[in-house]
Amino acid sequence: MSRLRFLTAGESHGKWLVGILEGVPAGLPVSLETIQDELQRRKQGHGRGARQKIETDEFEIASGVRQGFTLGSPISVLIANRDWKTWQEALSVAPLPSAEIERCRVAIPRPGHADFAGALKYGHADMRNVLERASARETAMRVAVGSIARLFLAEAGITVASRVIRIGAVESPDAVSSPETWRKIADASPVRCLDSDASARMVQAIDEAQKQGDTLGGIFEVAASGLPIGLGSHVHWDRRIEGPIAQAFMSLNAIKGVEIGGGFSLAAVPGSQAQDELLPGDESRGRSWNASYRTNHSGGIVGGITTGQLLSVRAAMKPIATLMRPLNSIDPRTGLPAHAHVERADVCAVPAAAVIGESLLALVLAEAVLEKFGGDSMNEILPRILAWKDRQHLA
Ligand SMILES: Cc1cc2nc3c(=O)[nH]c(=O)nc-3n(C[C@H](O)[C@H](O)[C@H](O)COP(=O)(O)O)c2cc1C
Repeated sequence: MSRLRFLTAGESHGKWLVGILEGVPAGLPVSLETIQDELQRRKQGHGRGARQKIETDEFEIASGVRQGFTLGSPISVLIANRDWKTWQEALSVAPLPSAEIERCRVAIPRPGHADFAGALKYGHADMRNVLERASARETAMRVAVGSIARLFLAEAGITVASRVIRIGAVESPDAVSSPETWRKIADASPVRCLDSDASARMVQAIDEAQKQGDTLGGIFEVAASGLPIGLGSHVHWDRRIEGPIAQAFMSLNAIKGVEIGGGFSLAAVPGSQAQDELLPGDESRGRSWNASYRTNHSGGIVGGITTGQLLSVRAAMKPIATLMRPLNSIDPRTGLPAHAHVERADVCAVPAAAVIGESLLALVLAEAVLEKFGGDSMNEILPRILAWKDRQHLA
């Protein structure tokens, strides 16, 4: 059984999003402002749709926290969907008259969505029964529970940050700064890009796509610094830490590719350019084992184990599938061609996906830290982490 686990529930336009996070140690200070701030960051980004203006994403903690500290018991979180008010009927829990059912029905599946496969799988005639839960609205709850994981990591000196690298055809130059400085710069950019020139061109590209009734995807990077050496393990396939990281990112809506460190680019270079050579440590301090690496092609993970270097994950997001100039589809009742259902949608959500990625990485890393250092309370866990880092930290 995993040390840290969570469940989410809730339809996109249902009354509530619900989350339960289990396994957080007792005694973690919980800053409600931090969680709210993270939820606010998820709503940002040039190219988001009108929904973000409707939702405030105010949340409530219903259990597991008392007087500002975690109790060690399951933490449950509620986020009210303000838009529910206009969808009460369509999302009614009680049965509806058949004329109303017909009126609320989404009949034509949207290509690029779970609509058609989900309707066939679950036997739904109304695609709304699928699209409500397949929607990325659920990620608000992942950010809420992920923010608690982030608070835990912060106590252990671990920082998680993100930046957007590409939107459509526009690419940002490589980051020169470290993730500790990313947040401020990326939060100030309308597209979470560290480079102001690329940022402006990305905004332009999104505006252009919107004019055409089209959408854009892109690539973002999430990085963690301050990690201890030795999270994950080489000893068994399901303990290699790349596994849960890749799963977490691939589970995010619209993500079609994940790479760690040099990732796909390493396939194109000889071995001599792909590995990270070791450099001796500082002898004068009697810490010859305090070695470092010349480079970080591995992205902070070798053999399934964190090296103590910057952990870097990149994810590729496909363009938003709901187009205002709808794609060709079929009417499943007749099998005849039809235009896809049009639902209010974002034009580009790569900046938001990057923020969600921070929470996803935080959840995986918090789980790995708990697995390695164990314990039921922060008082028990933190001294172990600090003692280990002091012994093992790489320059
Ligand atoms: C933050 C975020 C916002 C999204 N917003 C929309 C949207 O407004 N409209 C849409 O069609 N898809 C949106 N998506 C993508 C869909 O949820 C996703 O493509 C769809 O559920 C199909 O799943 P798949 O692409 O993972 O196969 C969004 C994804 C994320 C991560």
